[in-house]
Amino acid sequence: MTRPTSLTVRGHLPDGYLADALRRDAALGLTAHPKWLPPKWFYDARGSRLFEDITRLPEYYPTRAEREILERHAVDIAATLSAHTLVELGSGSSEKTRLLLDALRGIGSLERYVPVDVSEPALVEAGEALLRDYPGLAVEAVVSDFDAHLGIPDGPGPTLVAFLGGTLGNLTPDQRAVFLASVRSQLRAGDGLVLGADLVKDPGVLVRAYDDAAGVTADFNRNVLRVLNRELDADFNVDRFDHVAVWDSQNAWIEMRLRSHGDQTVKLRDLDLVVEFADGEEMRTEISAKFRASGLAAEIERAGFAVTRWWTDSENRFGVALATPV
Ligand code: SAH
Ligand code: TRP
Repeated sequence: MTRPTSLTVRGHLPDGYLADALRRDAALGLTAHPKWLPPKWFYDARGSRLFEDITRLPEYYPTRAEREILERHAVDIAATLSAHTLVELGSGSSEKTRLLLDALRGIGSLERYVPVDVSEPALVEAGEALLRDYPGLAVEAVVSDFDAHLGIPDGPGPTLVAFLGGTLGNLTPDQRAVFLASVRSQLRAGDGLVLGADLVKDPGVLVRAYDDAAGVTADFNRNVLRVLNRELDADFNVDRFDHVAVWDSQNAWIEMRLRSHGDQTVKLRDLDLVVEFADGEEMRTEISAKFRASGLAAEIERAGFAVTRWWTDSENRFGVALATPV
């Protein structure tokens, strides 16, 4: 029997959690040396829209490369794992996910899609679009912060967890180990993980992907300051911070920073905090680690998975691993 199409959006966090976490992160990061801000605060409604614009930039190849892999192999993924539930962490617009939904619907196994994201506006927009296009699919969106709580629901398996877009690379190596182990702890025999990761390549190509000619990424990077202005009653002069993207070959990651243009004093009224920026001072806002196949497989395996399949796009820019619990 086909169930009526439905969209639910649940919070998986205690009341006030996100507001408190933002205050804590801002207080910690803006008083540190060097200053830093965690990346999850980019994604308010405007930030999520800007990220979608990034995915369509000529320089930003990861989305197209990952889509190419899923176009070719979603059917293999579905055949290996006839998932009843697809859970996606950091789902954003769920655009590429449609390839997995199509393949899993094609074999008739899929009942439920659980997109999990810290951005409620992104979940609502994506969920409503899926409702229109996937009649009968139960879409149970979860607002959660995967740094604190994954949001993977109980229920009949098999469950396929997707973590796409290279978001794994936005975590430090230590955070990645914790993240992968906690995903593993929630899976049972017969479940699986599909993981997309961007690969090490020519630094020029990498830097351009994070510093596009049209300045969309710069706008996205600065958006975190707008979020602080709104949420913490701060007075960042957004136009006086320059976007910086550098390749750190030692760590194999792209680092995004905001560089102060001139000496500045910023007040965050809700935190009762005054922060000084020196001319040229750089604040870290994001890392985006790039992987080699062997290193990534080792990380996944250390968390208690076996990597059963590994695919790359035709230009070897991006990889997708299919892993199962051991
Ligand atoms: N998976 C999509 C979006 C990638 S952008 C794609 O491949 O295009 C990263 C997504 O992860 C954003 O939607 C952002 O809101 C979400 N995100 C970032 N940090 C998060 C966190 N700590 N918990 C949950 N979601 C997070
Ligand atoms: N997960 C994406 C990536 O690492 C996020 C991203 C793309 C991003 N462009 C960005 C984050 C610019 C901050 C700034 O590719």
